[in-house]
Amino acid sequence: MKKVFFSNSGAEANECAIKAARQWGENKKGLHHATIVTLTDSFHGRTLTTLAATGQDHYHHQYLPLTPGFVYAETNNAADLESKVIANQCCAIMIEVIQGEGGVKSLTPEFISAVARIARENNLLVIVDEIQTGNGRTGKLYGYMNFDLQPDIVTTAKGLAGGLPLGATLLGERVKDVFTPGSHGSTFGGNPVCCAGALNVLSRIDDDLLRSVTEKSEWIIQQLKENSGVKSISGMGLMLGIDPVKPVAAVLKACAEKGVLVLSAKNKVRLLPPLTIEWDQLKKAIEILGDCLSV
Ligand SMILES: Cc1ncc(COP(=O)(O)O)c(C=O)c1O
Repeated sequence: MKKVFFSNSGAEANECAIKAARQWGENKKGLHHATIVTLTDSFHGRTLTTLAATGQDHYHHQYLPLTPGFVYAETNNAADLESKVIANQCCAIMIEVIQGEGGVKSLTPEFISAVARIARENNLLVIVDEIQTGNGRTGKLYGYMNFDLQPDIVTTAKGLAGGLPLGATLLGERVKDVFTPGSHGSTFGGNPVCCAGALNVLSRIDDDLLRSVTEKSEWIIQQLKENSGVKSISGMGLMLGIDPVKPVAAVLKACAEKGVLVLSAKNKVRLLPPLTIEWDQLKKAIEILGDCLSV
């Protein structure tokens, strides 16, 4: 990646990516090449435009009308993606490599290769939303690095500054010069306090930390996969989704009563522990989770 624009949240990082893609579309393909194809079950933020980018109806209906120019293709269905691209005047395809809010659902390597091919054949940008999957979460610096994919735009936030509000939109070779002075901006974006936080976080995401993320992930899967209350486990690194036999709300409640806070995503129990979680805490938490899941 060649340039970065700093903002204050994930949604703002995606807004910047969408503006960059539309500006690129207008420059390279003509005024109306503004449509962005996103995926069903995606989640891209809570502003009106990033809600429009989000391919889940239930996030939409209270807030209509949303920003136009988004079309949704079925996740992991390359034929559907290709037909949506061909039927619209597009500038980009936008994906998460693992859909967090959408149920910790991984894109298949075959589908990710198809995204790259369809973008190449139709002269489109690939935007990867790494707001949840970035900064070591999957065991690589960015989630896309687990696959054979070179995105044109990568967005990240969440863990980037360790809890301080910072979003980043990384622009690759094809889009690095789309913004000219004054065409995009932010008062607080790139402020020194949040950037100091990010410098510290990034200095600690080294090979040892990434290895420990993978090790902890494998250990968690090992502990839970034979549990009588677990149907399957999805995700990567320390972003895992457990499909429970019991209703997910019951598992969350039982865990909370025993001092372990876990999230849900659709029908899954979602685990997103700190990458630096100590082994003794992890062991305690997984023991409690295992008890609460089992039937
Ligand atoms: C994949 C993804 N994109 C975008 C967002 C929005 O980020 P933020 O809440 O920082 O605006 C989130 C988080 O909620 C997310 O998980």
